[in-house]
Amino acid sequence: MSLAGRAVAPEAVAAAREALARARTVVVFTGAGVSAESGVPTFRGAGGLWRTFKPEELATPVAFGRDPRLVWEWYGWRRAAVGRCRPNPAHLALARWMLARDGVTLVSQNVDDLHERAALEAAGGSEAARRAEPIRLHGSLFHDQCTRCTWRARSHGSVDATSVETLPHCPECGGLLRPDVVWFGEMLPVREVERAFAAAGAAEACLVIGTTGAVYPAAAVVHEAKAVGARVVVVDPGETEYDAVADVRLAGPAGQIVPQILP
Ligand code: OAD
Repeated sequence: MSLAGRAVAPEAVAAAREALARARTVVVFTGAGVSAESGVPTFRGAGGLWRTFKPEELATPVAFGRDPRLVWEWYGWRRAAVGRCRPNPAHLALARWMLARDGVTLVSQNVDDLHERAALEAAGGSEAARRAEPIRLHGSLFHDQCTRCTWRARSHGSVDATSVETLPHCPECGGLLRPDVVWFGEMLPVREVERAFAAAGAAEACLVIGTTGAVYPAAAVVHEAKAVGARVVVVDPGETEYDAVADVRLAGPAGQIVPQILP
């Protein structure tokens, strides 16, 4: 049975606020659902990207080797679509909360840049925004990496996927660039994984927002936090793999609920 549509009990909101207020250390774990109200499609729900597109044709190294033009066309489309989206009240509330208190680590599976943009907005464009930036486990839609050398950087301008020749190429070695995202079958970035699991292993509370919790190893961040005794608060209108371990379950949209539960 879907949890969507059930009213969120005021007691659950109060319990979530209390768990987050009491915790000296919090790990926040976000997925596609935190950006859904900004207009970014999720992967698995109704209208999800993996319902319309085949991951094995677009998000694997083999797919890129076979047809880099097609893969870039898809990422170019996603960049343009996400570029038109704006942070929603969940991103903004989280960013303000992180700027206002210590001990919160944000870990995201998302490749969009809405957490970063919210942080910049909340910090008034100042350097302080860095405090509210996420650890990205699945890379970044707006960064490129070279397929031949170690060059990687933020991307500028739109992608011309007319042909392989017009695709972005490395300014250092001329190799073909690819989006700096983690594809199926690839390793997660080691340093980010270490930082995320260290935060989870020291967390007194874990706030999970908008993820089915189906994709490992990222999904294990929440189980690590639970294993060390963190109180787990889950915000998601649908069913998730974390429902059985949640201490507080809030079945509703992040943009509505997250601003209410951050103390
Ligand atoms: P999913 O598409 O699997 O799950 C999105 C979750 O967001 C679902 O549980 C929805 O119920 C929930 N949701 C929808 N609208 C929401 C809203 N307004 N507020 C809160 N939650 C909402 O996306 P992820 O779990 O993020 O990996 O997917 C994990 C990984 O699978 C992605 O990072 C990506 C994908 O393949 C890679 O690309 C490596």
